[in-house]
Amino acid sequence: GGNLRLSIVVLGASGDLAKKKTYPALYQLFKKGFLPRRLQIVGYARSRMSTPELRERLRGYLDSGDCECVEQFLNSCSYMHGEYDAAEGYERLGTELSAWEAQMSVGTPTKAHLAAATAAAQAALAQAAGGANGGAPAGGAPPGNAAAAAGGGLHGPQGARLGRLFYLALPPVVYPQVCEHLRTYCATLFGGGGGGGGGDRAGRGAAQPAQGSFVRLILEKPFGSDLASSEALANSIGAHWPEEQLYRIDHYLGKELVQNMLMLRFANPIFSAFFNRHYISNIQITFKEPFGTEGRGGYFDSYGIIRDVIQNHLAQVLALLTMEAPVSLHPDDIRDEKVKVLRCIAPAGLGDCVLGQYAADKGQPGYLDDPTVHPGSRTPTFAAVRVFVRNERWDGVPIIIKAGKALNERLAAVRIQLRTPPASIFGPLDHMRNELVVRFQPGEAIYAKMVVKKPGLEMDFEMSELDLSYPERYKGVVIPDAYERLILDCIRGDQQHFVRRDELRAAWAIFTPLLHAIDAGAVPLHPYPYGSRGPAAVDQFITDSGYQRTEYSWQQVHPS
Ligand code: BG6
Repeated sequence: GGNLRLSIVVLGASGDLAKKKTYPALYQLFKKGFLPRRLQIVGYARSRMSTPELRERLRGYLDSGDCECVEQFLNSCSYMHGEYDAAEGYERLGTELSAWEAQMSVGTPTKAHLAAATAAAQAALAQAAGGANGGAPAGGAPPGNAAAAAGGGLHGPQGARLGRLFYLALPPVVYPQVCEHLRTYCATLFGGGGGGGGGDRAGRGAAQPAQGSFVRLILEKPFGSDLASSEALANSIGAHWPEEQLYRIDHYLGKELVQNMLMLRFANPIFSAFFNRHYISNIQITFKEPFGTEGRGGYFDSYGIIRDVIQNHLAQVLALLTMEAPVSLHPDDIRDEKVKVLRCIAPAGLGDCVLGQYAADKGQPGYLDDPTVHPGSRTPTFAAVRVFVRNERWDGVPIIIKAGKALNERLAAVRIQLRTPPASIFGPLDHMRNELVVRFQPGEAIYAKMVVKKPGLEMDFEMSELDLSYPERYKGVVIPDAYERLILDCIRGDQQHFVRRDELRAAWAIFTPLLHAIDAGAVPLHPYPYGSRGPAAVDQFITDSGYQRTEYSWQQVHPS
């Protein structure tokens, strides 16, 4: 899209997420030439701050390898102060976006153009105030009109291709209001048209935005705290924005090896042949972090580890791992299959769960020592949850999703353990089971543990592996950050790696009854020492699910 005029609005620009993730990802895209030349990045937040102050604040978070590029990037960043719950700020924002688009549409701006842009924005406001209610703009042209106009020239000369991307780096409690105000004041591109969600005809007389113009929203989790609250939130957002314009981000879907899952499964008969209950004994999906909440407990304490990483990130991995082949690579075909398999998973039962909370050890603080955590909190920082996919392929295969903070290492991986070969002529092979491991981080790798003849004169055997280690095999290849990839997908209009509303609902349905039981104190909470492998009870739980610890452990050649 070389001729795209793109406005990116980061709402919550003064917050942690924006400066640590959103802006650095935007900078990388800018540096690599993936953002259009005609670009503005508007930060919007409640803090009183000037544009130079925002730039100063961001500078420290941008990779400083290329100073000139950093400065160019920062020059396209501006800041606007505004409330989230009052119309006034959004009115200003909408006017400013239209003015910029007007300017970009004509090349050199003149006073007359800017006046026209302001008039156009005001017309949009008047129209919005008059009728926009519930998403479908009143009196608007049908969807697709902008495109028709652009081609036919009936409604004036063809305008520029315009894009608005609103990135909501905000606490979701404000989403309903923000979404409503954005729809009312900021959803109409200069020259008219909502870029896919409806066809407002503001700014009559100005050239209509060209085909491929768009308005999109990126939303950050948490999307509710159980099925009902998530649905309520989705309804209030859905009242203003259609699903095609919503991009619910789950950054695990932007990780290289998560994205590789589809290829691994459906382009390789060597693996797809055994991907079923006849060969697979059990599956573990693991997330481990070597640090605790460390002052970030305020948010975490009201959610806990299941809501924080299992219901979203790991459930997405689970869906990709167990889904059937999609009809095509169309985003909706893929998401259809994910929904289908998630709906086959029975809600996790109370007996299918081990919970833990880290305690102080060897000079490291316990969870309850975090001053941002409620005294006496029973929020789990560790959980192992066993689920079953009730379909022909997977029935009876225990899938253990395990996640914890303040553990012994950093790791995100999937471990697929095969059954022991029947009637082994080599004697018992229970501790030498085949395993296929997909390691998302750190040090991306796919490896398969297997039994081989020990090299030498004797007919001994031992375990070894087929190893595809990315740091080794793809030396020097830089793996892009998840956020970078996902923002680019959104600009390109590809929803494949974003969570559709029905996926979200299906994922919540699996964990909601268990979460309610946990909230009611019905599931025991085991303490575990900071920096350990988790509560002792977990090993037994996993063994009971059929897992056999193998006598061999894989070592990465060149850990990254
Ligand atoms: C976030 C969680 O979504 O994912 C954090 O809120 C967690 O608690 C983080 O630390 C993990 O992401 P990554 O990419 O570091 O594995």
